[in-house]
Amino acid sequence: MKQLISTADLTVADVDDLMRLADSFAEVQTRDVPKVPALRGRTVVLAFFEDSTRTRTSFDLAARRLSADVLNFSVASSATKKGESLRDTVETINAMGIDAVVVRHRSSGAPVQISRWTDAAVINAGDGWHQHPTQALLDYYTIRQRIGGLDGAKVAICGDINHSRVARSNVDLFTKLGAEVTLVGPKTLMPPQTSDWPVTVSHSIDDVVAEVDVMYLLRIQTERLSSGLFPTVREYRSRWGLTLQRASALRPEALIMHPGPMNRGVEIDAEVVDDSRCVVLNQVAAGIPIRMAVLYQVLGPGRFEDTAGDQVGVSTDAVVEQGGQAEPTNGAKPLSVDATEVNLEADSQSAIKEASCQ
Ligand code: MLT
Repeated sequence: MKQLISTADLTVADVDDLMRLADSFAEVQTRDVPKVPALRGRTVVLAFFEDSTRTRTSFDLAARRLSADVLNFSVASSATKKGESLRDTVETINAMGIDAVVVRHRSSGAPVQISRWTDAAVINAGDGWHQHPTQALLDYYTIRQRIGGLDGAKVAICGDINHSRVARSNVDLFTKLGAEVTLVGPKTLMPPQTSDWPVTVSHSIDDVVAEVDVMYLLRIQTERLSSGLFPTVREYRSRWGLTLQRASALRPEALIMHPGPMNRGVEIDAEVVDDSRCVVLNQVAAGIPIRMAVLYQVLGPGRFEDTAGDQVGVSTDAVVEQGGQAEPTNGAKPLSVDATEVNLEADSQSAIKEASCQ
């Protein structure tokens, strides 16, 4: 694995490797000094062109716990504000000799475009409506810890599907791992081409709530929304929110998930967040070992590739310093959702134009 742009880049075997690595890193976090030297001497740049709290801090901690040097690039205090283009910014950072760049950008396709301008490994930390692959991985890690896995599991993803990169990443990863996914929400917040997606669609949360193993809620992405796509917050809550009453219809062992930030009283009632089935903080905690695993896979000394460039295995020896086993992957084929209505090429161009015009 040389970079991570989309969950569609991952085979089932890749995901299994990442989960095993994350298990090792989760153990590291229980130590008095939760740090390993696996990425000593490597430099990781966090280039966040869009706001973020949990993803940025989680990548930051993950890189530091692997002993990498971390450079936080903030748009607010950068030359981007003075009109520098995205390309010039990337080439400038690249010239400093970096090993990986973790990118968040409001335009879909920006990480792909950036990967053309740098030899450093590019990790997508969320681009527009397109993808948020580490979110999908940490969500799967949380599910795997709580209910063992996704094979045959029923998952409802409820909310503003159309504007959500998390929905696209999670549909791709969860269905690849055997889940049956139902998208739930108002018609106006559904992507126009869900017939191409391996999902069923429902416009009623009440029809699915009692059936699911995982109820995954999404906030309304007001920053990406044109007006008039849903009536009022109050009506949204009453028709599609996970209210206390609806939560009582969920199965006792079902999980309630949300990528955050949550809007309490809109897509989820405040009391539901305190329900023992709600694993939102477990998701946040899972972010660190998962992002350590991703950074290690793209940069670490344990990675090796065959001559065709396919990943064939990973050793965790250097990670936990107590002898992980290298296991060959089985070469499973990647499945993919036709992830997006977003035209990547066009959006990449607009990403560049937007950045140049700032
Ligand atoms: C994201 O970056 O997409 C978040 O984790 C989810 C959200 O912003 O609603």
